Amino acid sequence: MTANNCIVLSSDHAAIALRQAVADHVAGRGWDVVDIGPTRPESTPYPEHGAAAAQRVATGDCRFGIVLCGTGQGIMMAANKVAGIRCGVCADTFSARMIRAHNNANMLSLGARVVGEGLALDIVDAFLTTDFEGGRHAARVQMIEALESGAR
Ligand code: RB5
Repeated sequence: MTANNCIVLSSDHAAIALRQAVADHVAGRGWDVVDIGPTRPESTPYPEHGAAAAQRVATGDCRFGIVLCGTGQGIMMAANKVAGIRCGVCADTFSARMIRAHNNANMLSLGARVVGEGLALDIVDAFLTTDFEGGRHAARVQMIEALESGAR
């Protein structure tokens, strides 16, 4: 497994089934999947799972991360607290392309109580097949990174 071909997945209890569908889908597309759970249905706090996936991306162990909770919002907020992470929650394919093309997002968040499986998998494909455009967008991403070091 190479980090460049690795996607880490995590969720809370609200999105286990969709996470497993995403895992099967991206594995079928040739990605190496690191699914860090959970697998048990008991309630479990999304910040822990968002942070755990984000750490795998921030350290360079995995190129991308996909996180899921009921809305996709809470786990996205947690992931974005890890330095180096740019995670967007998407419920449409246009946004999924744009967070890659313009924001160089390295993580995608999905809401299992918001999108059905078919749309979720289309969103995943849009995210994974779109490259960062760079150019004028690179300076803006650098401005986001500067905020992590306390710059305004
Ligand atoms: C869990 O009930 C729910 O709050 C969580 O999955 C998520 O939607 C939080 O943002």
